[in-house]
Amino acid sequence: MSVSFANRVVLITGASRGIGRAIALAFAREGALLVLAARSAEGLAGVEGEVRALGSQALSVPTDVTSPEAVTALVDAAVARFGRIDVLVNNAGIGKVGRVESAAFEDNVRQTMRASLFGMINVTQAVLPVFRQQGSGAIVNMSSVMGRKAFARFGSYAIVMHGVSAFSDSLRQEVSGGGIRVSVIYPALTATDLLREAKEAEMPPPFRHMTPLSAHDVARAVVAAVRQGKRRVVLPRMANMLLLGEALSPRIGDLIAAALTRRHVARLLRMSGGKTYHETIAGYPVR
Ligand SMILES: NC(=O)c1ccc[n+]([C@@H]2O[C@H](COP(=O)([O-])OP(=O)(O)OC[C@H]3O[C@@H](n4cnc5c(N)ncnc54)[C@H](OP(=O)(O)O)[C@@H]3O)[C@@H](O)[C@H]2O)c1
Repeated sequence: MSVSFANRVVLITGASRGIGRAIALAFAREGALLVLAARSAEGLAGVEGEVRALGSQALSVPTDVTSPEAVTALVDAAVARFGRIDVLVNNAGIGKVGRVESAAFEDNVRQTMRASLFGMINVTQAVLPVFRQQGSGAIVNMSSVMGRKAFARFGSYAIVMHGVSAFSDSLRQEVSGGGIRVSVIYPALTATDLLREAKEAEMPPPFRHMTPLSAHDVARAVVAAVRQGKRRVVLPRMANMLLLGEALSPRIGDLIAAALTRRHVARLLRMSGGKTYHETIAGYPVR
């Protein structure tokens, strides 16, 4: 399907850096009008400048997605400035690494749930009346491969990413027929600041030699998912082999997850072959 994004209004949460920034720039290159949300006003100002340099317009609204009041103000500001919202990208989130037995585990679940799932729910509930009134809209929810297959030490993150999956599945069926489409993106490890605080030795073994996707690759997939009305996008595509194995049996899923510790298996699934995550992010912020 050939959909033009020229003058379409795209609201992106978590737009101050990483994948959200890359999504903003990808839509700006398509001529879209951007509404950028995250907590850091400074980060947003930087991305807004980059959007303008690409010849597009952007409105930055510093927002904590965990605050329903702030989210209402965000949606009101978007509609006041551009008159409508065509695409919502629910991308804001955090991620923690740690074993289920660690003292911090429960707190990690709560924090991640608050930012990545309740934040998504807040923004979706605030934007849906606008979409209902327009009779159209597209929602993109950012999950992770771990939203379909958890890995050791990523329990808190995987719980929440599974929640994003279930929320999106339910939502897609509820809004079906109303001109509103829902896509979920499931990227594998991506080179951003998300896991910067985790030491390499704390990562589960397969992650120590994995080559991350670039935020740019994920952003391109988001634009394509909206354009083509895709319900689900897994990145890299070969990661579907892991998800297929898991769907057949957790024994097969676990075997594939364990086998990813071997470089040649990870290479086969397009998850290894270049710089590792920590080599990629070392020493500089990943914009
Ligand atoms: N990196 C990966 O390996 C990977 C893989 C699969 C999926 N993902 C998902 O991709 C999404 C983007 O992550 P990323 O990798 O780009 O990480 P990142 O570089 O750390 O960016 C996270 C973004 O979310 C924003 N954010 C966090 N908490 C927020 C809150 N309470 N309110 C508003 N904004 C908030 C941050 O901005 P402020 O700090 O300025 O608020 C930032 O813009 C996340 O949902 C993550 O789960 C990442």
